[in-house]
Amino acid sequence: MDSIVITGGAELNGSIPIAGAKNACLTLMPATLLSEEPLTLSNAPRLSDIRTMTTLLQSLGAEVSAMQDGKVLALSSHAISNHTADYDIVRKMRASILVLGPLLARDGHAIVSLPGGCAIGARPVDLHLKAFEAMGATLDLRDGYVHASAPGGRLKGAVVAFPSVSVGATENALLAATLAKGTTVLKNAAREPEIVDLAQCLRKMGAQIAGEGTSEITIQGVDRLHGATHPVVTDRIELGTYMLAPAIAGGSVDLIGGRRDLVAAFADKLEEAGVGVTDIPGGLRVARRNGRVGAVNVVTEPFPGFPTDLQAQMMALLCTADGVSVLEERIFENRFMHAPELLRMGARIDVQGGTATVTGVQRLRGAPVMATDLRASVSLILAGLAAEGDTVVSRVYHLDRGYERVEEKLGACGARIERVKTDG
Ligand code: UD1
Repeated sequence: MDSIVITGGAELNGSIPIAGAKNACLTLMPATLLSEEPLTLSNAPRLSDIRTMTTLLQSLGAEVSAMQDGKVLALSSHAISNHTADYDIVRKMRASILVLGPLLARDGHAIVSLPGGCAIGARPVDLHLKAFEAMGATLDLRDGYVHASAPGGRLKGAVVAFPSVSVGATENALLAATLAKGTTVLKNAAREPEIVDLAQCLRKMGAQIAGEGTSEITIQGVDRLHGATHPVVTDRIELGTYMLAPAIAGGSVDLIGGRRDLVAAFADKLEEAGVGVTDIPGGLRVARRNGRVGAVNVVTEPFPGFPTDLQAQMMALLCTADGVSVLEERIFENRFMHAPELLRMGARIDVQGGTATVTGVQRLRGAPVMATDLRASVSLILAGLAAEGDTVVSRVYHLDRGYERVEEKLGACGARIERVKTDG
């Protein structure tokens, strides 16, 4: 099992290329199940979650091949040979539930394992299932699996009013509605850039969609979809994560491919804390102004609010801010597991329910720490950049789910960071 060792204190200067979005790619890949014709995705990130989705789609009969060192994915689902998404794959990655909508829409039936609990909260899939029920599906939950079928073999258009905003449920319903009979209206839909990206790809495949990026999406179902080629949108969470690197360690870093509109609420908070964020041709430049960053308060919200997926990393920055910051986590109920690890590095954090109060300290100290989930693991790496001495982050398989070559990208800017093989 690998660990990452960071020797803190080096200022960062240079540029970091931002990859295609993991979360967009994970919802674009299942779109292959909607058509017999090939789907080509460029700008794909090279991550273990993408390999998990590849395995899942292949288990259903899709052909998936990675080209150009994994940056291009060629997908084709001429025929679907298996309609069951097995527990062994689904338990590894919650986004596996996104095959349910396309399977139901294409062939009228599917059996998908329930994703089960997850380290950052209960994370049920009831909103996904309610959407399919509204579209006429009958659902039966047994033995840990959802058995879904559409009477007559085809879903029908419906008004789906989500009681709360869900990225995954919006995506699943959008995928399914493209082939439903009639018009579907998704109300209280999520507005994330990954949903806009999905709608744009589906439109290239012949889908009729309007309103993506707003809270009401209208889909006019069509009889069939065709092939398409689509570049995956920039990963706004990877972008935000690397924007924090010079903010925390000092220096100036250009984020190639970065766009302010993808991270506006987050960039505003960085600037409020005293970090410069400037548009440059083809990207964003982030540079810390002189002295410590200031304390800021953060509330996580659905897009366009501050993303929950940047909360842990922002906390790492605020651990060394001048003053007291309050972070309120409103999306997931158990997403402060990085806090006890940051405490081991000398941070001062008090967690009460969904609120963390962070009192900034002058300097963090390196320590052995353990990654507990994807975003928590990278927050510990960021904290290590600013800490005195060595920080050893273990269990980095969480990191590899969502960040490609983190040690190379930070190392190229002057960070002292290396991956080491450890026993066990
Ligand atoms: C996606 C992202 C994840 C991000 C999250 C919120 C992917 C692969 N993952 O996850 O990185 O942290 O959006 O921005 O894109 N909920 C229900 N019932 C449901 C579905 C969700 O109660 O059927 C709840 C969840 O438990 C959570 C909230 O709704 O509290 C938001 O979850 P959702 O937006 O669905 O997140 P995901 O799509 O799972």
